[in-house]
Amino acid sequence: MKSRHSFLFTILLASIVFMAGCIQSEEAGVKPTTGKKNDDDIVIGFSVGTTKQERWQREVEMAKEFAAKNGFELMVQSAEEDASKQVKQVENLITKGMDVLLISAQDSESAGAVVDVAHEAGVPVVAYDRLVKNGDLDYYVTFDTEKVGELQAKSLVEQYPKGNYIWLLGGPEDFNAHLIKQGHEKVLKPLIDKGNIKVVTQQWAKGWSPEEALKHTENGLTAANNDVVAVLASNDGTAGGAVQALEAQGLSGKVGVSGQDAALEGVQRVVAGIQTSTVYKPLKELNTHAMELVYALAKGDQEKADEMVNGKTDNGAKEVPSILIDVQIVTKENMVDTVIKDGFHTMEDVYKNIPKEEWPKDN
Ligand code: GAL
Repeated sequence: MKSRHSFLFTILLASIVFMAGCIQSEEAGVKPTTGKKNDDDIVIGFSVGTTKQERWQREVEMAKEFAAKNGFELMVQSAEEDASKQVKQVENLITKGMDVLLISAQDSESAGAVVDVAHEAGVPVVAYDRLVKNGDLDYYVTFDTEKVGELQAKSLVEQYPKGNYIWLLGGPEDFNAHLIKQGHEKVLKPLIDKGNIKVVTQQWAKGWSPEEALKHTENGLTAANNDVVAVLASNDGTAGGAVQALEAQGLSGKVGVSGQDAALEGVQRVVAGIQTSTVYKPLKELNTHAMELVYALAKGDQEKADEMVNGKTDNGAKEVPSILIDVQIVTKENMVDTVIKDGFHTMEDVYKNIPKEEWPKDN
């Protein structure tokens, strides 16, 4: 008898606790959730197009750390620059069972198909830094990529307002490369129209390939008889190819070169004076926002997800709710106050090739 009473009491207590929970969440305006709530049950898929550039390796590690800290499972796959492989990998992740897909598309155009496959399985899709075009994409977490292009071009035209330019674009398969080009055009077009700047050559580098950038720079230099004032390079990898071609002609340090990603080699070249600038994109901030978003979606916390949105991006099919993160130009002058202060790279690493007595004093 006694045990029956305590059993009923337990049930009653549990119901009260449950009802109180419902009332509390209604009061707080939290929508009833449909997703899984236990961290142990949550599985997120992270599909990256490539891990070739330094940044992607760091970002995969950051995502793993976030998952470990929050106690959910993260399945990571890299397509090694093969767009069709990426589709297969995502299908595989879906079969294994996941709650949300975070994807950095190898090919912005063809990745739309992935969204349909995921949606059929009830899996929302969040694009990570690279836009997925022409699909019913749920969210997009990214940097202000057009601004990346603008900053690159500005940093060069400030120092080299007149003369011949070599214009190196990124991977045409990556929509970001096109947004960067738009940013370049905003700054360059008026100067080209005035006749101050002449573009000797404009070339894309598939897969952001430094080797292609090297060849394009060599060809540009030959075509202009080495009379070039700047190479507008779209990232640090292509900047590296350009610097190599310039070195071979004894022009390194004399010709302006832009970049992007604040990759270690890039920032080392900047402090050595052989690359004019790079663009710092706070990867940790991007990664944390993306992981918080997918985590909220997996838990069914739509309200939190929507609160995080601060813009929209047209992907050709819809206006995709987006989280946009700001970027910063980095030169020799503000190296310490940006990438080093943020802990993105250490002073020792950045200035590794510079005699210690020439390192910035205030550190
Ligand atoms: C791309 C990204 C670019 C750039 C590049 C690596 O995926 O879209 O903005 O970061 O990787 O240099």
